[in-house]
Amino acid sequence: MHLAHLRLRDFRNYPRLDVDFAPGFHVLLGDNAQGKTNILEAIYLMATLRSFRGVGGSQMVRHGQKGYFVGGKAVGQGEHEIKMYWSTAERKLSLDNQPVRKLGDYFGALRVVIFCTEDLQLVKGPSRARRRFIDLLLSQTYPSYLPLLQRYAQALRSRNALLKQRTPDDAALESFSNELVKLGNEIIRMRVELIPKLSPLARLAYRRISNDAEELRLEYQPSVKKDFVVELAQSRRREQTYRSTLIGPHRDEILLQLNDRSAAQFGSEGQKRTLAIALKMAQAEYLTGIHGSAPILLIDDVMGELDVKRRSGLLPLLERAHHTRGQVFMTCTEENWPRELGRDLQRWEVKAGALKKL
Ligand SMILES: Nc1ncnc2c1ncn2[C@@H]1O[C@H](COP(=O)(O)OP(=O)(O)OP(=O)(O)O)[C@@H](O)[C@H]1O
Ligand SMILES: [Mg+2]
Repeated sequence: MHLAHLRLRDFRNYPRLDVDFAPGFHVLLGDNAQGKTNILEAIYLMATLRSFRGVGGSQMVRHGQKGYFVGGKAVGQGEHEIKMYWSTAERKLSLDNQPVRKLGDYFGALRVVIFCTEDLQLVKGPSRARRRFIDLLLSQTYPSYLPLLQRYAQALRSRNALLKQRTPDDAALESFSNELVKLGNEIIRMRVELIPKLSPLARLAYRRISNDAEELRLEYQPSVKKDFVVELAQSRRREQTYRSTLIGPHRDEILLQLNDRSAAQFGSEGQKRTLAIALKMAQAEYLTGIHGSAPILLIDDVMGELDVKRRSGLLPLLERAHHTRGQVFMTCTEENWPRELGRDLQRWEVKAGALKKL
């Protein structure tokens, strides 16, 4: 899969950009604050409908403008034309010139995996960061997952709103509980299936980058231990105190362990960083296995941060993406430019919101 064309209008520091990208390895070179990461952000946005920087639409609109446009042509099994427009007044998303109605179908058009400094949150951050990682991966794998997640979130919001009332209506509560349990059990089932497949891939990736230092293990710790219905009913008293739903997949955790100890609690900074990259490598490997073609890899700065040993662990993944006619976009400044990357690179100079082929 590759992105053949990217078009930006008033996105971040790009007034307008139209650029063709061949498959292969692209390096975006430039000084700080020129717009390298903004390119990756735009590509990630098209693929996932959110910014990997965790910001909303208004921050991505070029200062002084009303809205941004991001569009592109994704080439995989078929070709897809993506167009998105965002302003405070209006949002539009189209795939092949048809407005997107089912988000689940949309997610297959462009698949990406990003490597960025924010990844450290996967290890250090709250469980929400890890759930989001798993949810994105499942959305990139099954068209049914995202709609399921959205319906669950809706049921949860309604149920929580009801719990905030002084005397919640029993019948209404029961109906939202039923909905929550039905959708929640399906989410749990899909997460239960995924983790044992992802864990060995992450372990292997971790080994490659750390030279067999420690054993990595992912463990799914669902909030529901056995029976959602029973446990939800048992939590009613505590719900009355907290006035919100305390049990369910919105409270799940994915435990990351190195040699059977929590990485968040006992890992060193270097181990945490290696672990974060290993998770992203596992995501890429998993998607490649499922779909038979590599996702587009977006690599922001991290190569410059890694020591030579860990860098060389990442190289095989990049080379494979390269040889299978996948695509890699990597940002660097001249100073942290990794020389060992080889010859077949397409180099771009990024300067003040413009791109020039070198
Ligand atoms: N909404 C916006 N409108 C206009 N310019 C913006 C907007 N948001 C960010 N910028 C500008 O974009 C530039 C930063 O772009 P980006 O983060 O892509 O830099 P970079 O090339 O990756 O730099 P670094 O090497 O420091 O990571 C800055 O000059 C910033 O002022
Ligand atoms: Mg940057």
